Amino acid sequence: MKLLHLDASSLGQHSVSRELSAAIVDQLARDVSSLEITYRDLTAQPLPHWTPVQDAESPAAQLGQDVLDEFKAADVIVIGAPMYNFSIPSQLKAWIDRVVIAGQTFRYTENGPQGLATGKRVIVASSRGGVYSSGPAAGLDFQENYLRAVLGFIGITDVQFIRAEGVSIGAEHKVKAIASARDSIGSVVTKAA
Ligand SMILES: Cc1cc2nc3c(=O)[nH]c(=O)nc-3n(C[C@H](O)[C@H](O)[C@H](O)COP(=O)(O)O)c2cc1C
Repeated sequence: MKLLHLDASSLGQHSVSRELSAAIVDQLARDVSSLEITYRDLTAQPLPHWTPVQDAESPAAQLGQDVLDEFKAADVIVIGAPMYNFSIPSQLKAWIDRVVIAGQTFRYTENGPQGLATGKRVIVASSRGGVYSSGPAAGLDFQENYLRAVLGFIGITDVQFIRAEGVSIGAEHKVKAIASARDSIGSVVTKAA
């Protein structure tokens, strides 16, 4: 089984989503004996924004192709995805722009768009400073809702979230949010394996 592990937080070792995505991958590695892991750090090695390919032999075009091939080959994708300004970091958006490609991962048909990246599972390690799972800010969640929408568009419907939210409310709240997210990893990952 091939696993693609992505991180998109700029906070390095202080990152909540990186801590959680690593814990998810560790759990998967314990559960699945022959797991082939590819890691891509989208902030340490940011992808250039998508542009039309001028030269298919150029390093940028080759990198884009590598990213797409890596995604298409993966059975499971673990994404460390913080909320930035109600959405996702632009580094993660740059990756999405490389994998949501007409004719590759979706196509237009007479009956509307059809996802072609079927059969994959995605586990998202979601971190956010405020609370969006319920309450007055629920309508401002363009992070998890966007990821679910864009992954669904290309045919991935098995998307699960391990979430630590309200981490900016205070130190105690943050510790509890991370502990609760970690506690849920076992059951979610076992399901995903
Ligand atoms: C640039 C930036 C934008 C952010 N925007 C939001 C936001 O819109 N809503 C929110 O609840 N938290 C926001 N936060 C807080 C982060 O979501 C929170 O610190 C989270 O833990 C970041 O993930 P990380 O720890 O993996 O880096 C923002 C943080 C940064 C650095």
